[in-house]
Amino acid sequence: MQGTSTPLSRGALGAPQSLPRPTDPARPAASLCTKQFPSEFRSRREVLFFPAPPDRFSAHTLEIGPGRGDYLFAQATLHPDRVFAAIEIGKKRYFKLIHRVQCRGLGNVILINGDARLVVPRLIPESSLQQVVILFPDPWPKRRHTFHRLLTSEFLEQLARCLVPGGGLLVRSDVMDYVDEIAGNIAATATLEIESRSSRRPDEIVSGGATLYEQVQSAAGCTIHTLLARRVAVT
Ligand SMILES: C[S@@+](CC[C@H](N)C(=O)[O-])C[C@H]1O[C@@H](n2cnc3c(N)ncnc32)[C@H](O)[C@@H]1O
Repeated sequence: MQGTSTPLSRGALGAPQSLPRPTDPARPAASLCTKQFPSEFRSRREVLFFPAPPDRFSAHTLEIGPGRGDYLFAQATLHPDRVFAAIEIGKKRYFKLIHRVQCRGLGNVILINGDARLVVPRLIPESSLQQVVILFPDPWPKRRHTFHRLLTSEFLEQLARCLVPGGGLLVRSDVMDYVDEIAGNIAATATLEIESRSSRRPDEIVSGGATLYEQVQSAAGCTIHTLLARRVAVT
């Protein structure tokens, strides 16, 4: 169990730093804590940064929900000249990610622990990203739970705002009806347009780079769907 008293504690890690809570009067965030965000109670948690909150956030790629970091670390290793940021809601996962960044000696990775639905609107500036990547967002397959799904029209608009014009949004999932829903939401977002949509059968060879979730779902016989969208320049 990792926590503040383990070797992965804040102290041991050089104290990942946090921003003021959303209720801090210096940073009013009331407008973000609406009922549209079902995790508003979790949002009262501090947002943690590793290695530290940047003065002005900017990155080549932002990954949301990196899990154990397969994609993040592969890309950060391949492109040492680019900054890769990731927002992970799970605190244990976040501390494990920090440990893995340190073990790999990656100096081009920023990790953020928080709910992306709150972190993105509050902390990611306009046109600060070349790419947003979301691989296998939690599917919430039960009908009564679909309101938990991350990729709503409102959130997609926020992601579009953070991308430079022409910047890409990559989404991958094995849940067909969620992919259809996302494609519909993208189509309804004035600042995004779908560039491509493709599917890979589970028996088709992947040339490396599959995340843990993709490996597990492919082994279970699921077809993997990929959506690529771009931010359009609004005139
Ligand atoms: C199904 S897992 C996929 C993990 C990884 N991308 C993969 O393909 O193996 C979904 C990930 O998204 C994270 N997540 C879910 N909701 C989130 C949110 N609102 N903000 C940030 N991360 C979130 C989960 O903690 C988990 O790591």
